[in-house]
Amino acid sequence: MFVLGLNGSPRKNWNSDRMLQEALLGAEELGAETEKIDLYDLHYTGCRSCFACKRLGGTSFARCAWPDDLKPVLDKALAADLLIVAAPIYFRTVPGMVRCFYERLFYPSQIYARDGHKGYQKDLRTGLLYTMNVDDPAINRYPAETDRLDFERLVGPTKLLNIVDTCQFDDYSVYASERFDAAAKMRHREEFFERDCLRARAFGRELAADCLSDR
Ligand SMILES: Cc1cc2nc3c(=O)[nH]c(=O)nc-3n(C[C@H](O)[C@H](O)[C@H](O)COP(=O)(O)O)c2cc1C
Repeated sequence: MFVLGLNGSPRKNWNSDRMLQEALLGAEELGAETEKIDLYDLHYTGCRSCFACKRLGGTSFARCAWPDDLKPVLDKALAADLLIVAAPIYFRTVPGMVRCFYERLFYPSQIYARDGHKGYQKDLRTGLLYTMNVDDPAINRYPAETDRLDFERLVGPTKLLNIVDTCQFDDYSVYASERFDAAAKMRHREEFFERDCLRARAFGRELAADCLSDR
């Protein structure tokens, strides 16, 4: 079982990346081989509307053909047994780099079939791991569930884990952050970060167990 983890945060070893590392460890506990890629290390754009993935009889039908750093990552994701995407929430959605990845992953599978069937031949199981500042993911009607449904429709069975009330700064006193109760944020981190790591690890284990049950 091969599991590809994508870190969709520009920050390494911060909330999203740490949760992703835990989820990958959880998958490894069930025997998975894992790899992590940091999307912000790559140079790529969103869908270029070249339609190579729609050209009937074309060599790239239902595959993204755009030759930049994301192309091998897309190929690797589609060959994996499980994909885990970790991302912070930026202005109520995922960061632009992650949205660009979603466009490039989703669009080749969108073949405009009358019966709605997807272009990808094989289901790719996916886990979405979103981290955010707010303490209730429903507060801003995050599109996380919409993302999950797009994955279900175009990629394969998908589960979502929201990690809430994250610490954004290592020291709230040196950044403009009046709106936050800095002490409560730090207390929350001390009390709950380890718990969230365990939830992320269990999430990785659960996703890997789903893959094993497919066999
Ligand atoms: C540009 C930007 C926009 C953000 N917008 C939101 C938001 O709309 N809602 C929210 O809950 N948190 C928001 N945050 C906070 C991050 O989502 C949160 O701290 C996240 O856990 C950071 O993940 P990281 O540590 O992996 O970078 C924003 C952070 C940044 C930098």
